[in-house]
Formats: sequence, structure tokens, C-alpha cells
Amino acid sequence: MSLARRELILGVTGSIAAYKAVYLLRELTALGAEVTVCLTDHARAFVGPLTFRTLSGRPVLTDLFDPQSPDAVEHVGLAERAHAILVAPATANLLAKAAHGIADDFLTTLLLAARSPVLIAPAMDGGMWEHPAVAANVATLRARGIVVLEPEAGVLASGLSGKGRLPEVERIVEALLGALSPARDLESDHVLVTAGPTREPIDPVRYISNRSSGKMGYRLAAAALRRGARVTLVSGPTALTPPAGAVFVPVQTAEEMREAVLHHLAQATIVIKAAAVGDYRVRQVAPDKIKGKRDLVLELTPTPDILAEVAARRAGAFVVGFAAETRDVAAHARAKLEHKGIDLLVANDVSQQGIGFEAEENEVLLLDRWGGTRALPRMSKAAVADAILGHIVALRASATHKTTPA
Ligand code: PMT
Repeated sequence: MSLARRELILGVTGSIAAYKAVYLLRELTALGAEVTVCLTDHARAFVGPLTFRTLSGRPVLTDLFDPQSPDAVEHVGLAERAHAILVAPATANLLAKAAHGIADDFLTTLLLAARSPVLIAPAMDGGMWEHPAVAANVATLRARGIVVLEPEAGVLASGLSGKGRLPEVERIVEALLGALSPARDLESDHVLVTAGPTREPIDPVRYISNRSSGKMGYRLAAAALRRGARVTLVSGPTALTPPAGAVFVPVQTAEEMREAVLHHLAQATIVIKAAAVGDYRVRQVAPDKIKGKRDLVLELTPTPDILAEVAARRAGAFVVGFAAETRDVAAHARAKLEHKGIDLLVANDVSQQGIGFEAEENEVLLLDRWGGTRALPRMSKAAVADAILGHIVALRASATHKTTPA
């Protein structure tokens, strides 16, 4: 574990936890990082620049317009050179400014100019952390790919107990290491991902479909690429740009999706079916546009169950399904896992606001065929995707030591 030759910016804001940034800086430099510290005006009220300058061996950034500082107008170059920007502790004010693109001091200007991973470790009063405005700002930042760590629960500066303490230094460093060196643990894998809705035609201009935006599946494809996999993305119609590097196979109907999936199944070592496949199609599609204002009965017939077919025909591939549920999520999901004969099922409660269909975030339950269950907290779909892939890697590794239930 080393941060040698890593250029980091450590932003410190005006929280009582600012003194802990001194310990954090010491740990980062001990790991070999070159750290430039940036203090907000309020941070300076808690800890002086001299402490940080002494420990980092570098000038400390404070005022954007300070004519004495050689870095004063160099915020863009500085942000571009950094391998990561870490803000710890971050106040509710910093979260709000970062979420809204306000750049009224050196630190917030650096955040706006950042090209590298950004990690934010908040610290504040428990009531403030739970305030809907703070929650919305955190969600906005996470949806943009910024890592916002969860504060820890315990006794706060106010003397009250709650969730708001700065995470321990080890947790912050661990998150930083993860962001700087993403795992390349899928380099020998070919991941086949399905995403988006299907469209089942009624006539030449109308169709039956659903609200899937494709975000969950596209984030999975991008995360698998980052981990070194070859990726095939079979997608129903969405407004998204496929991730660079993926083999992209656009489809419309469930039958087209089935054909594309079965065509690419032989090379796949992992299959993840995040698509919201239509369960029914119209038995007789009208050759011309249906006209008139009379009642109309459409006869529907089930579409093929692609996931079950994949599970039956896979040649050693690890098969992952999704389940969109609206109640009794765990029980329905466990039944679906067994019925489809797959290895892992990712269940989301699509009746909840802010997750599931179309949303930027998701909150899922992972159920595996060895009886394990893991709940992931609400986070960006990119973070959920990464966690699902990490879980697959771990399950595959331990599955070799387990026996398959009948
Ligand atoms: O696309 P987003 O807007 O980001 O939203 C994400 C999501 C809500 C679509 C995603 O998280 C999700 O839950 N996808 C699965 C939706 C779904 O169709 O669930 P289901 O419970 O109806 O189907 C179970 C599984 O069987 C799914 O893996 C599905 O792909 C598969 N299936 C379903 C029907 C069918 N005919 N063939 C299938 O393969």
C-alpha cells in the first residue's frame, strides 16, 4: 500500500474536526504522497497554516487572490496535475457549494477545475447531515461520480450523539487508495450486460415499453471496462451513449434481445441482465397504423424468459439477474433467484422514490444461490455497479470452496 509519486490536494474546511486533517496529512505523507493543503478561511480559524506547511513541506493554499502566493492564479493547472482531491473534513457549506458549482474561494475553485477523482469526507452535526438539503447535495455529488464518504456515528462536538463524525483516518485513506487504483480484477473476463427497456410493437407507430433509462446497465458496462473486462452491451432503446470500448448491440424487442444475448453467450464468463425486458408482446402486430376511436382489445402473449434460458445454456458463465419489486422484496427476489436458476440476484424496490427506474441512484439487495444476502446502501448507480462487480468477484472466489445446493 503506497502513495509514492502521487500528487494530492487535501482541502480542509471549517469544522472542529479540522485538527484530524493534521493526522490525515501525516498518514498520507507517510505513505509517500506529495500533498498540497488548501485551507478555507474558516478552517484557518481552527488550525493554522503553519502546522500543515511544516508537515507537508509545501506552501499552504489559502486565498485565491493572494498576490504573495505563487499558486494563487494557478488553480486550473494545479487541479489538473493532482492525482486526487480529498476534502476532509467537509462542512455542509462545502457540500452545498460543490453541488451547485459555486467557486468563491481556492478550494471550491479547485473542485470545479478537477479532472481527477474527488473524495469528500463530511463532518457536521447529526441533524445537519440528515437535513433534506444536505442529503440532496450529497446525492447530486455522488451522481456525478464524486465519492462522498458516510460520516460515522458517535458523540459529536455538540455533546449529542448522532451520525456526523469525520470517518477514521484509515477509512479515508482506504477510500482514497480505492479511487486511485481501481481493481483490475476482470482482466480475463468477458462481461455480457443487458440494459434499458424493450419495445414491443402494436402497429408501425406504437409500442408497449417501460420506464427503464438504461443507466444501471450502462454503469455496469462502464465499471466492468474499468476493471479490465471485455464488455458486450446489449441494449434496448435509451438516450445514453454507450461506454467507449464496449461492443454495442442495439435491440428493440425482447426477441431481438434474446437473439443477441444467445449469440454472444458462448464467449461470456459473466452475464448481467439489468434490462427491463417486456414480459408480454402483442400477438398480432397490425401491419398499418390502427385508426378509429372504438374500444380496442390487444391480445398479449408472453415474451421468452431470456434469463432462465441463459441460466440453462450457460457454459460455466456466472449469471446475474435483476428483480424489480414493489413489495416483499427479499422474499420475491429469493423465489426469482431459485426459479430462474441463476447465481446472483440484484433486487431493487422500484416503488421507492429516487431509486430504481430512471433515477441516478439505486439501493439494492444482493442474494446469492449459496444462501447469502447483502444489502447495499443507497448510492450512485456507478457505485452500485462497482459494488456488484466486487461482490461477483468475491462470490466466484469463494464458490470454488462451496458445494452447489440441489
Ligand atoms: O434502466 P434504469 O432506469 O437505470 O433502471 C434500472 C432497473 C430498475 C431497470 C434495473 O435496476 C432492474 O431492476 N432491472 C430488471 C427489471 C426487470 O425486468 O425485472 P423483472 O423482475 O421483471 O425481471 C427479472 C429478471 O429477468 C431481469 O434480470 C430481467 O432482465 C429478466 N427477464 C425478464 C423478462 C424476460 N422476458 N426475460 C428476462 O430475461
